[in-house]
This record gives sequence, C-alpha cells and structure tokens, in this order.
Amino acid sequence: MTAQEIRKAYLDFFKKRGHEVIPRALLVPQGESTVLFTGSGMQPLIPYLLGEEHPKGVRLTDSQTCLRADDIEEIGDNRHTTFFEMLGNWSLGDYFKQEQLPWFFEFLVDVVGLNPEKLYVTAFSGESEFGLPKDEVSAKLWQKMFEEKSIKANIVDMGSEADGYKRGMKQDERIFYYDGSKNWWAPEGKPGDMSVGQPGGPDSEVFFEISGIEHNPEFGENCHPNCDCGRFIEIGNSVFMEYLRSADGFEKLPKQNVDFGGGLERIAQASIDSDDMFKISLLWPIIEKLEKLSKTNYEDKTEDMRVIADHLRGAMFLAVDGVKPSNKAQGYVMRRLMRRAILKAFNLGVEQNFVQEIAPVIAELYRDDFPELLENEQKVIDILIKEEKAFKQTLRKGLREFEKLTPDGLTGEEIFKLYDTYGFPVELSTEEAMKRGVELHDNWQKDFDTKMAEQRERSQTAAKGTFKGGLGGQTLQHKKYHTATHLMYQALRDVLGDHVIQHGSNITEERLRFDFSHTEKMTDDQIKKVENIVNDQISKDLKITWQEYPTEEATGKLGALGQFGDRYGDTVKVYSMQSNDEEKPFSFEICGGPHVEHSLQLFEEDKKFKIVKEQSSSAGIRRIKAVLK
Ligand code: ALA
Repeated sequence: MTAQEIRKAYLDFFKKRGHEVIPRALLVPQGESTVLFTGSGMQPLIPYLLGEEHPKGVRLTDSQTCLRADDIEEIGDNRHTTFFEMLGNWSLGDYFKQEQLPWFFEFLVDVVGLNPEKLYVTAFSGESEFGLPKDEVSAKLWQKMFEEKSIKANIVDMGSEADGYKRGMKQDERIFYYDGSKNWWAPEGKPGDMSVGQPGGPDSEVFFEISGIEHNPEFGENCHPNCDCGRFIEIGNSVFMEYLRSADGFEKLPKQNVDFGGGLERIAQASIDSDDMFKISLLWPIIEKLEKLSKTNYEDKTEDMRVIADHLRGAMFLAVDGVKPSNKAQGYVMRRLMRRAILKAFNLGVEQNFVQEIAPVIAELYRDDFPELLENEQKVIDILIKEEKAFKQTLRKGLREFEKLTPDGLTGEEIFKLYDTYGFPVELSTEEAMKRGVELHDNWQKDFDTKMAEQRERSQTAAKGTFKGGLGGQTLQHKKYHTATHLMYQALRDVLGDHVIQHGSNITEERLRFDFSHTEKMTDDQIKKVENIVNDQISKDLKITWQEYPTEEATGKLGALGQFGDRYGDTVKVYSMQSNDEEKPFSFEICGGPHVEHSLQLFEEDKKFKIVKEQSSSAGIRRIKAVLK
C-alpha cells in the first residue's frame, strides 16, 4: 500500500469502529503552550484526556502533522525526519486495552498486510518506586493474538535499554517488558520526570523487523527491539493514559483513556519492507525530482537528498501554518530547515532557485488529504523564495569576509564567526579554504568546538528565560508585574498554606498569569485577602534587592521560595522584598530578575493590584490572572 492509501485505510478502519475523524491541528500550537511545535497527536487533546468533554464524542481518529526539531543535525539516516504524520485514535474514557491492541494488530496484518512474524512488541515492566504495576494484561493479549496466528510468542523481562543490549533476544521471544524509560508515555517523559497535574500511562509499542539488516554492534553488544541499529523500527504506540502525576506519586485519572500514535511514514516503510524510509510514496517523488534537477543519483548523494526532501516538506507545512523564517522561535527553526536544504542543494549543484521546482511536487503529494498546500502554493513559494534569496546574499557577504580573514590561515574562532554570522557550515569553510589553498590552524577544530559549546549555553539560557521564567520582555511594565508576582506568591501561601508552589508564570505588558498547586477553587474571601496583602505590602514601599547564595543555604536554612521542578546550579540569585521597618523580608525568592527597585512604583498612575480571574489550569493546579489597574 502507498502511504496515502494507508492513511485513508486507517481512518476508515476506525470510522467503522465508531470514531469521528478530526482535522489535523496546526504545527504551531494554538493558545498557551510551552512547546514550539505540535510534536504528537495527543498534544492538542490533552484537556480531553484530563476529562473535559470533546464535542465530537469519546472515540476520535486523525492523522496529525508533527514536527520534531530537537535533532535537526541528525537527519539524513534511513528512518528519521523532522516532519512526519502521526496516525491517531483515541478513547476518551471509552474502550481500553482489550479493544485497542487487537484492533491495531488487525489493521497491521489484515489491512496493511504486514507479516505478523515480523512484528515484535513491548509492554511496561512496572515501577515499584511509584507503585505502578506491570502491564501483564497487554503482554497476555499480545501472546494470545500471536498464538492465534500460530506464532510462538514468549514473554521476556528485559528491564532497561542497557539491559536489552546485554541480554539480547532468543528464539521465539516476541513480547518484551521494558521499564519506564521505554514503556511509559507522557509529554514530559518517564514517570519521575513528570510535573504534578500531567497525565501519562504505560504503553505498548509495536516494532517491525526490516528485512536484510544485520545488527550493528556499534550500538551495543546484542540486538533487541529498542536497539538503535535500524533493524527494528517502531511503527505504533498504544498509550494507556490512566494516571495523573500527583505531589507524592500517581493517582488514577477519573477515566481510562487510550492515546494511540503510529508513524504513517514508518508504517509505509514497513509495508514496502525497505531499509530506507525515503523510498515511500510521500518522499520518493521528491527525491526523483532532485535526481532530475541535479542530474545525479540518489545512491551517490543519499544524505543530501534526504535532508532536502525532509526539510523542504517541513518548511512548506510551516509556511502553510503561518510561520515565516525569522530569528526567533518557530521562525528560527524554519530558517534553519531552509538554509540547511539550500546548502545541501549546493552540494548537488542545483543552485538556481530550486525551491519553486520542488514545492509543487510536495503540494501534489498532499492534494487529497491536505489540500491547503495546493491552495496556498504560490504564497508558500513566495515565502520560501524570499528566504532563499536572503540566504544567498548572506553567503555572498560571508565569502567576501572569508577573503579578508584567510591571508594568515584560518582559525577555529574565525570558522565559528563565519558559521555564527553568515550561516557558513564548517564543511563549507574548510572546503573553501582547501579550494583557495588556505591553511587551517592546528587547533582549529578544538577552538571551534569551544566556541560552539559557549554559544549553545547562551542559547539554552535564553530559551530557559522564554519558556520557563515566562518573562517575555524587560520593559518597566514587565518588571512591575514580575514584582507583583513575587508578592502575590507569598500572599497566596499566607492565605492558603505552604502547599502552594509555583508551577508556571507568564507576564505580558497587560497582566500577570500564575499557576500554582492548590486543589480547590479559591473563595471570594480568600481572593480579597490576597489582594489586600499584596496592596498593603506595595504601600509599605518595600525595597527590592538581590544577592547570590550557595543553593543549599538558600533553599535550606534561608527558606527561599522556588518553582516546582527547577534545578539549580551551585549558587542562586535570590530576590528579597523588604520594608525598612521589618526585620525579615516579606518575599524571599529564587529568581533571575529583573524587578523594579521600590514596590511603590507599582502604584504609579494611581494603580492598584487586582485579581481578575481564578480558574483551574489542570488537575491540582489553579491559575490566576491579575492586573495593576
Ligand atoms: N502519544 C504517543 C506518542 O507520541 C502515542 O508516541
């Protein structure tokens, strides 16, 4: 079956079993989100998995376009892409394991036609630390299904991934228990990594054994289903979402849900049993076009062509979903995708505006299922071409700069500058140097790596500022709201109790937003009390200062407030807000800043602090919005 046929057959299969087909969500999450991209089918459905009613009912199915941009640099192997489609079916408190696993098996074997002898499955081994039991129900269900096909299927306790490499697999072993690092699914990862209020659950994955791939011991001594050598590819994951992370462990969600996700491209690869995902019907036509344009063969330019096909497909969907290349957030990722694709096109010798040649091929592949690509084709091409032109200009400037830099040979620092300022990948600089007979300094690689590491740290710190601290800007208005947030945090603890812990904060020029652990709705009286405390403190004109402390001292003896889940280095910066007349600060909190200097600045223009909204954010977490008005 082609990938397009598989997508359609999957949706039909679940429609026949009472599911409503829902449209894909945009690649850019709508509303408030802590992630840049939609990276799984369940992400847009989290509120419903937590118990909210879905307008389309309790059985849903879709094919969700996803983008995972964490390892862009690694694209180019036989089975990874940044952009992919995740086939999904959901039970929102309706069916569970007994239906889900047999349905998926039936779909793979009877509809797609996969040979069941090539399927291997995993289940959750349990985590006693959290009181989470072993998923024997799934293992036994699988065993029964294989036996019905006269396939012997022994069940094995594997443990961790490392254990898998040690132990390997033996004849007739087909069902493997792995621990929470492999067979547990939640947006934030394994059980111990989850924040309070997040849903998660044990999962059961299905792997397909690709023909003709021998285990590669570079990945580990022995092969096993979760081995990275490429012999087994994961083609579907049934998550039994029935738990909620609580402050001291896990509790059951009110209802048992199923969150199934299966990579469309991977299932299509299994269906042609090829060791190369790029041979499937949603990618191969792009490669063929590249072969034609470049008059080279895929066999000779495999990696270049894979990167171009993947990145341009991703960039096109991003453009359709409203993203434009820029230096920030989603736009930055799109820019990187475009630029990497353009550089790879240089390697192929396709330098003449190749984007408008490739884009129509991609749009055509999605004609029936995502017609928005064809409908927006010209607009998308314009966006892509503009970026292509801008990048070429930057490269030209870079080449001029290159000439200035090279007379005495090229240092690692200079190669870094070319990379950082002009987007020159290292290979381009070293190749240019070679072409021009310019020497490379002895330590260039080491110096370059040092610079790269420094830059990575800088950008991580910046990202942390945006996504964790939630402080978008640094205007005076922001600072005022940031200061008000600290005061309110302490006031909430004074009124509600010390179980109140910050779970998130977001500040704009117009308001503050604050998430914190507390199970009940606040009463009007409690809200009033918190407002009064905050206004009272502001009127004392607290002085706002900060100091660094050893982390242990700050969080221990000094009792500085922090945020749930934050990890600190050896020392931390602590902000203190204190009245001249008092011995102890009212607020004492670990924070990167910035803040105003005196609390009375918050009352400028006759403003007062006011809570305008108090609502549930997720289970066990309340959310407040407040203003200075
Ligand atoms: N949410 C699960 C995943 O992304 C299905 O693997």
